[in-house]
Amino acid sequence: MTSRYDFSFSNKVIKAINTKIIGKNIYHFRTIDSTNLYAKTLVKKGIPEGTVVIADTQMKGRGRKERIWDSPPGGLWFSVILYPNIHPDQAMLITMTAAVSIAEAVKKVTDLNPEIKWPNDIIIKGKKLCGILTELESEMNLIKYVVIGIGINVNNKINADLLKIAISINELKGIDISCTDLFHEILKKFDYYYQQFISKKYGDIRKIWFSFSKIIGKKVKIQEDGNILSGKVYDIDENGYLILYTSKGKVRITNGDIKYL
Ligand code: BTN
Repeated sequence: MTSRYDFSFSNKVIKAINTKIIGKNIYHFRTIDSTNLYAKTLVKKGIPEGTVVIADTQMKGRGRKERIWDSPPGGLWFSVILYPNIHPDQAMLITMTAAVSIAEAVKKVTDLNPEIKWPNDIIIKGKKLCGILTELESEMNLIKYVVIGIGINVNNKINADLLKIAISINELKGIDISCTDLFHEILKKFDYYYQQFISKKYGDIRKIWFSFSKIIGKKVKIQEDGNILSGKVYDIDENGYLILYTSKGKVRITNGDIKYL
């Protein structure tokens, strides 16, 4: 433990969760730099699979593409450590497994209808409710570890600069909802779907993913590494990559920000 972290197990969050893998160990902080960063330090210490790091606030919350992730109190900011036995090309399937678990949990706990927006956002009314940051290290053909960072706007205030693109559950429901209940429901769902994942039931996960997505056939614009591509979404392939029909034919997209046209 270093002084950088306000480390405190809280009874509010750490109550027994009846899961097989995910959430058997939970590290809770009041304040942290980033749960993903801390999770990666735990990986170096050989921490067991399924360990979760959660914080009330993050001082250096990180989003995709080196963006800052605003993480004030009232939201759910946590990371899950996994050691899946898969090829690096299949990493997107883990993010899809997380997205499906979050979408189902949000629906169950709040009665809202979340949508999964490729590659890894959960949106409602066109605004971002949740982002997922998947970080991993791999050797040639094998993943060494994956840290899935999950940020959900629950009861937190949305930063004024983000009001056009982000939304919280509180804003949608008009009331505060229990972060603990939602957190536990996500861990339970993720535990279930991760076991499906280990059993290679990727098709089942993909099917549920599609039930939360409206992307097929949509006209989109995608920005990836400075390039802009537009076209119609043809499919999400078996590894979770997006197949786009463009003027030059079918293109496989592995990452990027999508805008519906
Ligand atoms: C995105 O850009 O959409 C991904 C955002 C991921 C944010 C979460 S909050 C918990 C975890 N710790 C981080 O620093 N980032 C992720």
